Amino acid sequence: MIRKIALSAFTVIGLVAGGAALAAVTEKKVDDYAFSFEGPFGTYDQMQLQRGLQVYTEICAACHGLQYVPFRALGYDGGPHLPEDQVRAYAEFYEVFDPELDDFRPAKPTDHFPQSGLESAPDLSLMAKARAGFSGPYGLGINQLFKGMGGPEYIVSLLVGYTGEEKEEAGTILYENTAFEGGYISMSQPLWGDDVEYEDGSPTEIEDLAKDVAAFLMWTAEPQLNARKEAGFIAVVFLIVLSALLYLTNKRIWAPIKKGKAATPAE
Ligand code: HEC
Repeated sequence: MIRKIALSAFTVIGLVAGGAALAAVTEKKVDDYAFSFEGPFGTYDQMQLQRGLQVYTEICAACHGLQYVPFRALGYDGGPHLPEDQVRAYAEFYEVFDPELDDFRPAKPTDHFPQSGLESAPDLSLMAKARAGFSGPYGLGINQLFKGMGGPEYIVSLLVGYTGEEKEEAGTILYENTAFEGGYISMSQPLWGDDVEYEDGSPTEIEDLAKDVAAFLMWTAEPQLNARKEAGFIAVVFLIVLSALLYLTNKRIWAPIKKGKAATPAE
């Protein structure tokens, strides 16, 4: 009996150690960062979204597109909430092809952001959702469940995760990155700190810029987050009130019968 227990204990220890070794090879390093939109009552920080838009525009847009995001969304409540004239002025920075004119014209608020300019760079509209899960021990998404870590944390970790090492493979230069699956990414380090100048004087270390652009990309992936949480909150309050009313109604309806039963032994 004791031998059996000892044996199974060894097996368990062996499995755990083996799993840990496996995880050490493949595990991506995604750190936890605090965002204003976390938790049941978290909402987007409008100023942060505006700063993130600036980082995206001045740096990431050189390669990446946001083809599912219309410019007019920049003016929506719960988003960067730019005034209408600024949305129009921002859209006019971009040129779109108009099949009716058979020519290029400045974009209007109803047009979408362009597609990625660099073919190998993925579109970022939904990236914060696409990379939401499976970080943490053994890639089980445990960190997502318990720490609320998701896509924005991954994007920040990716942007600050460059080690400075690089290698060439089949004619492409790959850059070592501790957050990227496989350890090497073909995107060169895009942020170095002080890459943009903020009007509101917010800090511009790499991590600050990365957090701002990650928050902005979370908004592009889920623009209705504020409204969704608000609706959820109202629904929960409604259900609590409804439960209380039903409980009281139930008591009241059955009260005479319960009372009658207690009082009359009958027959
Ligand atoms: C010089 C062009 C270039 C710039 C500038 C650039 N990227 Fe990239 N990015 C790429 C390429 C190319 C890939 C594909 C990398 C790969 O799959 O190996 C990529 C991939 C990504 C990914 C996806 C990683 C994954 O898990 O697949 C994210 C997120 C990303 N970039 C974010 C950004 C952000 C945010 C910025 C701006 C701060 C930015 N990029 C600036 C070229 C660029």
